[in-house]
Amino acid sequence: MPALATSEIIAVIGAGAMGAGIAQVAAQAGHPVRLYDNRDGAARAGIDGVRRQLEKRVARGKMAQDEGEAIVARMTPVDGLADLADSRLVVEAIVENLEVKRQVFAELESLCGADTLLTSNTSSLSITSIAANLERPERMAGMHFFNPAPVMKLVEVISGLATDADVAETLYATAEAWGKVPVHASSTPGFIVNRVARPFYAEGLRLLQEGAAVPATLDALLRQAGGFRMGPFELMDLIGHDVNYAVTRSVFDAYFGDTRFEPSLVQQALVEAGRLGRKSGLGFYDYSENAEGDAP
Ligand code: NAI
Repeated sequence: MPALATSEIIAVIGAGAMGAGIAQVAAQAGHPVRLYDNRDGAARAGIDGVRRQLEKRVARGKMAQDEGEAIVARMTPVDGLADLADSRLVVEAIVENLEVKRQVFAELESLCGADTLLTSNTSSLSITSIAANLERPERMAGMHFFNPAPVMKLVEVISGLATDADVAETLYATAEAWGKVPVHASSTPGFIVNRVARPFYAEGLRLLQEGAAVPATLDALLRQAGGFRMGPFELMDLIGHDVNYAVTRSVFDAYFGDTRFEPSLVQQALVEAGRLGRKSGLGFYDYSENAEGDAP
């Protein structure tokens, strides 16, 4: 199946860490992009964030100014789901909550044309389940980008039980056309990367609870000696503890409480305290301007 044409409109729902980045990727590939978030001003703020990133690239000589401006000009913030009705592909990147996602897709299906492809950037939730109450579940799939979306190459294209093979192939080809490296996977809890990554975080959190070493030491060790690009604590801070904790809970529940995936009370406490990592300025590390010590 061929990739979607760059004249076709891409809708992104959720303008947080992932949604704004995914919108940038699609706009960079040449598509007109509509970005919607139900928080007032968030879609506009997401696009402003992309603009600032691109201006930095222009200032460093890595991108022509008119190219950066053209990318931003292709991105439009919109006020409601109804404004996404003429999209060819929707990528949803909202809160990691099955019921909320199901509601959004049900509403989208009533607004969009029959050939609109519906995808979720969920990290862990069942695509089969998200699609189950749709009239046409065959056009729903997972399109799982990694953080930060404009930088990370991998995209997991996830097929639920009902996903049409042509839909998965179109998404695969489209991700490739966007400069990504897609892989096909079926809808298992956490898919591939987030499944394999759970024990990486969990073991780090156990070491921390046992007082083996502080996060900075553990991160440095895994980076420098272990060859990981990021250690578990700095990576959890980047992902956001609210998201990471929700993903762990979802994988744990989906595997009927398999203790390998048991969520950590340390992470639960961070979520309860609102210490969500980079996005809130504090997590395992302090990202505020006057923080003492080095945040990664
Ligand atoms: P985030 O918390 O940074 O952003 C979520 C955005 O969605 C917020 O701006 C919020 O206002 C908006 N939102 C929430 N409910 C909404 C609704 N009903 N309608 C419209 N907008 C709504 O979250 P993040 O990190 O961007 O995650 C989004 C999704 O992407 C989740 O499913 C997550 O599991 C997944 N994901 C997250 C990654 C990460 O590293 N943070 C990596 C890959 C996937």
